[in-house]
Amino acid sequence: MSNTNLHKAKKAKSDEFYTQLSDIEKELEHYKNHFKDAHIFCNCDDHRWSAFVEYFSMNFELLGLKKLTAIHYDANNISYKLEITGDTNGDGKIDGDDLVKTALTGDGDFRNQESIDILKECDIVVTNPPFSLFREYIAQLMKYDKKFLVVGPVMAMTYKEIFPLMQSEDLWIGSKRLGVFGQPDGSMKSAGALWFTTLDHKKRHESIILYNEYKESENTKYDNYDAIDCVFNRKVIIPKDYYKNVGVPITFMEKFNPKQFSIIRFRKGTDNKDLRLNGKDQALRVIIKRKTKMKQFMDEIEKQGVLFAQEGIGLTEPLNCDEETFMASVSLYEDYSYKKDDEDFMKLSKLLPSNAAIAQAYWKENNTYED
Ligand SMILES: C[S@@+](CC[C@H](N)C(=O)[O-])C[C@H]1O[C@@H](n2cnc3c(N)ncnc32)[C@H](O)[C@@H]1O
Repeated sequence: MSNTNLHKAKKAKSDEFYTQLSDIEKELEHYKNHFKDAHIFCNCDDHRWSAFVEYFSMNFELLGLKKLTAIHYDANNISYKLEITGDTNGDGKIDGDDLVKTALTGDGDFRNQESIDILKECDIVVTNPPFSLFREYIAQLMKYDKKFLVVGPVMAMTYKEIFPLMQSEDLWIGSKRLGVFGQPDGSMKSAGALWFTTLDHKKRHESIILYNEYKESENTKYDNYDAIDCVFNRKVIIPKDYYKNVGVPITFMEKFNPKQFSIIRFRKGTDNKDLRLNGKDQALRVIIKRKTKMKQFMDEIEKQGVLFAQEGIGLTEPLNCDEETFMASVSLYEDYSYKKDDEDFMKLSKLLPSNAAIAQAYWKENNTYED
C-alpha cells in the first residue's frame, strides 16, 4: 500500500466508532421543540450500527417528525438510503419497521450530489460524522445554511475553521459531553467528544455564577495582551467585579452564554504568538469580556429593532422594542438614573433617544424618589 493510501486507511479506521443511545437520549431531550414536523437527516449512519436511526425511528411519533432519512456510507460499494415517511407497513404505528431501503447511485459519501440533494431538502442534520473530515463536514452544513446537532471531538473547538463560528455565534456547544463510544469489535472507548449545534437550548442562556472578587495577586496580566489570566492554582476563577478583558481555558466555550460575555479573541497575543504569562506559554486561552447590563440591553435592542406600539402602560408613544425590552430599559434607567454622565447610558440615549426619554418619564412617574 502506498503511504497516502495507508494514511487514508488509518484515518478511515479511526472514524469507526459509534454513539451510544444513552448519550443521544440525554442530549436530545433538550431539543424536542425543534423536531416537530421536521425532516431529520442522518447522513453518516449505517442503520445496523447507528443509534441515531434507532432513536429517531423509535420516537418518530413522539417527536412529531415529518420524515427521517439516513444514508449509509460504504467506501467500496454502491450504498443505500433508509427513509421513514409514515406507517408504510400499515401496523398502526410508525417505527423502525417502516424504514424503506432504496439503492443510491454512489457510495453514500456526504459530499456526493445525491447526499447534498437530501441535505438541501431536510430541516435538521443530526449525526456523529467522521472526525477526520470534521472541518469539511461543518463547512458543508454552513454552506447550505442547515440547522444541525452533530458530535465532534473536544479539540474541534480550537480549529481555526470552527472557533470563529463560535465567536460569531453561528454555532455553539450542546448541553452535555458524551460518555463512551462503541467500537467495531464491541469494546468501548472514552468519547472525548461533545455536541456542536445551531439549535437553541436552555443551558446556553444560563449564566456562570461568579463569586470571587478581582485580586491583583491571583489575576496576572499576560505579557503579550492587555488582559488578566483567570486560572489560579489550576482553578478557573473569573472575578465578578472585573469588566475588562480576561483569559480563560477553551473549555469555557461549553458554558458560554452570549448574554453574559463577549468573545474577544482566541489563543494569540498582539505579537500573534500564544498568550504568555511571565514568559510561559498559556495554550488555548480564550479572551472574554463581561457584558454590563446596559450592553446586554443594547445588544437586545439591536437584535430586535422592531417598532412596537406600546399599550396598557399609560404611554402613547411608539417604542422601538417590545414590552419586555422596554421594561428592561426602565429598570436600567433606574440603575443609571443617578449617573447621568454614565458612558453606557449616553450611548443608549444616542441609539434610542425616544426609548431613553420614555423610560426616564415612565420611571419617574412610577417612583417616589426625588431626582
Ligand atoms: C464517528 S462514526 C459514527 C457513526 C454513526 N453516525 C454513529 O454515530 O454511531 C462516523 C461514520 O461516518 C462514516 N463515514 C466515513 N467517511 C464518510 C463519508 N465521506 N461520508 C459519509 N459517511 C462517512 C464512517 O463509516 C463512520 O461509520
